[in-house]
Amino acid sequence: MEKEIKHIAIIMDGNGRWAQQHGKERIFGHLKGVDSARDVVKGANALHIPYLTLYAFSTENWNRPTEEVNYLFELMAETFLKEIENLIRDNIRVVFSGRIDTLPEATKKVILDTIEKSAHCTGTTVNVAISYSGRAELADTAKQIARQVAEGKLNPEEIDEQTICQNLYHPEIPDVDLMIRTAGDQRISNFLLWQLAYAELFFTPVMWPEFRREHLAEIIEQFSHRERRFGKTGEQVRSH
Ligand code: FPP
Repeated sequence: MEKEIKHIAIIMDGNGRWAQQHGKERIFGHLKGVDSARDVVKGANALHIPYLTLYAFSTENWNRPTEEVNYLFELMAETFLKEIENLIRDNIRVVFSGRIDTLPEATKKVILDTIEKSAHCTGTTVNVAISYSGRAELADTAKQIARQVAEGKLNPEEIDEQTICQNLYHPEIPDVDLMIRTAGDQRISNFLLWQLAYAELFFTPVMWPEFRREHLAEIIEQFSHRERRFGKTGEQVRSH
């Protein structure tokens, strides 16, 4: 029997290298990366995966050449503007995680529109991490909890793991079951640090522009053979 998967998270890596390998500018790889994202989102929805998080832009990515950063924001705005009707038709909800306030106005507007227009959809929720880092999310979470303490709404002695979960960017999104990174590197790169605590990690050499739903299906198949122990012994898990 397939293990239940509630949340898949993907580090979409390798756009730049893929483009360079094909003698093209890095931005060509990002353009192709949109085709992969579209296909994987549709694939996840067809497989009834409740939550899919895509790492689209990290807080560290701000250090890239301005031209590439601007291109990425324009590409994302254009993509969501163009895709929103298709997403709604497919019943896909879109939410975003990250410091959205730091984004260019035009991109921010498209993001807010996309959230609003797809809010009623009940298929896969795609959580797009933009201007996101796991540490920044935890810092923002700490700030929010501190405010509740300062306002007298929360006793510091009562702060526990549940309090942290409830103050993340999306408290309703469960922990990651399966994390995939494309393009060969084996790192977490400041992605969902809290939510990845017990995730099964998969690293594939396939570059993001070539990654398709078939690759996702193959990884899900491998996932179904992993034993998730959550700190228990193998015997305990198997006898359950
Ligand atoms: C990594 O490639 C990819 C990114 C920086 C994110 C961009 C992702 C897309 C454009 C896909 C579309 C996504 C959405 C949600 C519309 P890289 O540049 O880090 O590759 P490299 O490691 O080979 O340089």
